[in-house]
Amino acid sequence: MKEIALLPENLLRMPSVNLVNDWYMRSFQEIIEFEKRDASSKTLEYFCSSLVKIRNRHTDVVETMAQGVLELKESHDVDHHIENSIQYFLDRFYMSRISIRMLINQHTLLFGGQLENAPGPKGNQYIGCIDPQCDIVSVIKDAYENARFLCDQYYLDSPDLIINESSHNDLEPERGIKIVYVPSHLYHMLFELFKNSMRAVMEYHACVDKYPPIIVTVSKGKEDICLKMSDKGGGLPRSTMEHLFKYMYSTAPQPSKADAHTVPLAGYGYGLPISRLYARYFHGDIVLLTCEGDGTDAVIYMKALSNEANELLPIFNKSASKFYRSTTPTGDWSNQSIVHMTSQRQISIQQQKKHQLPQSCQESLTGII
Ligand SMILES: Nc1ncnc2c1ncn2[C@@H]1O[C@H](COP(=O)(O)OP(=O)(O)OP(=O)(O)O)[C@@H](O)[C@H]1O
Ligand SMILES: [Mg+2]
Repeated sequence: MKEIALLPENLLRMPSVNLVNDWYMRSFQEIIEFEKRDASSKTLEYFCSSLVKIRNRHTDVVETMAQGVLELKESHDVDHHIENSIQYFLDRFYMSRISIRMLINQHTLLFGGQLENAPGPKGNQYIGCIDPQCDIVSVIKDAYENARFLCDQYYLDSPDLIINESSHNDLEPERGIKIVYVPSHLYHMLFELFKNSMRAVMEYHACVDKYPPIIVTVSKGKEDICLKMSDKGGGLPRSTMEHLFKYMYSTAPQPSKADAHTVPLAGYGYGLPISRLYARYFHGDIVLLTCEGDGTDAVIYMKALSNEANELLPIFNKSASKFYRSTTPTGDWSNQSIVHMTSQRQISIQQQKKHQLPQSCQESLTGII
């Protein structure tokens, strides 16, 4: 909330941003009430039901905030500095939201009497929403099937999937590589990457009988578990690389409002930045390596050792507040402005395409985090 107050003034005036701010204020007031209460089973019960109420209140935060940014872009000239502040803010804001929701889920699952110690879908013993034996390959297959379903709807066909596994521990690939993880987070990242790869492959090989498959390589080392998704979707020009993780950067046409109730394959530019937050939340990362004319490798990095996979959270301090107040730095390399102008133009083309978040975007974003 302190950081919201540092946002550019124009953005703070947008109705959607005000609404989000109000939600946070109400929830904060409700939660600090518990500081004064005695610990009892009644308090715990009431606390859990308050958490559920708060979780429901904040369901639409991502799309409401996105709407606020759109409102700003439509009504004002957004310069490079404001653009950077918004990107910086949204990364931190959505990350903190992932964390708060993770805590709420964990608390309500463990203390709220819902599904207490219930086995997960594969018969594993979950701890809240954490699966201590998360089977990576089965999550890959789930995400692939669901992305393929969308791809088939749009293109009437879809690329096949090949999975390879390798591990420094020879026995593991046979039994399947396992990780202590929140399966829904892993699923989210994979689903987004599959949708991107499928779209690229289908668009690049428009008229062929057989599409090149998507290959996912799962490897486990002593420090990292890596999931590399390789497609032959023609890749991207290097000049677009710096925009891929920007909110609302998309080369897909804006999903039409006529299809308001179908989930689109692409078009909102939230897939990559939010997925990377999920990866970074447990000290992992997502990196894209793309070769124009060939294809793209997207790698999800996760920590192999669960004790290294701690939460990564934004801290509100002087450095953070300084960021919002700093001015645009002047270039200290020759011809920088040319590079910058080209990239700015691409971004503004994207912005012109967007007007308002249609219903389907709201639904697709509601599902996330
Ligand atoms: N594997 C890929 N091959 C080619 N281009 C890609 C690939 N992955 C991402 N991109 C490019 O990066 C852009 C941003 O991807 P991102 O997933 O963030 O948004 P999107 O797919 O356009 O919309 P959505 O929010 O629905 O996912 C895409 O529009 C596309 O141009
Ligand atoms: Mg996408």
